[in-house]
Amino acid sequence: MKRIALFASGSGSNAEKIAAYFADNTSVDISLIASNNPKAGVIDRARRGFGRRLHIPVLLFDRATFYDTDRITQLLQNQHIDLIVLAGFMWLMPSKLVQAFPNKIINIHPALLPKFGGKGMYGHFVHEAVVAANETESGITIHYVNEHYDEGQIIFQASCPVLPTDTPEDVAQKVQVLEHLHYPKVVEDVLMR
Ligand code: GRF
Repeated sequence: MKRIALFASGSGSNAEKIAAYFADNTSVDISLIASNNPKAGVIDRARRGFGRRLHIPVLLFDRATFYDTDRITQLLQNQHIDLIVLAGFMWLMPSKLVQAFPNKIINIHPALLPKFGGKGMYGHFVHEAVVAANETESGITIHYVNEHYDEGQIIFQASCPVLPTDTPEDVAQKVQVLEHLHYPKVVEDVLMR
């Protein structure tokens, strides 16, 4: 049995796709939904069983617990988590946690890294920057996580066209289609490595 912990701070649409993808897989367990944000949509989705009657425990933590204690790392180790999957998780991973899970933390970024990454580059800021730069394509990057925003080794990328008439919202929609299509499969791939 492989065990996944999903970290999310926002709406949780990717977390939901991943949870649904593995719902009938008897060798993969989504063991935990972890979040810093009690108001996040992902909490609501988890409490509704991700539309699949799934009962996944939710862990909420605050900044002090995350950065000033080892409690989250210990909990993940105690639960024998094989892979930590960030799906719209907004906080930088503390280096102790990164060191405790080498090459076992992955993230999805809504652009083609190394372009349009780094601190402050999240959500609509990314798509606004892509449109402002007159890019002709954007896409997704799935990468390992290290102590710096969006700098870990790239595992997978997929791209979509950006038309001159596209608004940031248009780009966001195209990118989200790619995220939902690819992230669960790439998670499975990394898990089986
Ligand atoms: C996605 O665009 C992902 O690439 C980024 O945060 C967003 C999360 O969206 N890291 P959701 O909460 O899964 O809907």
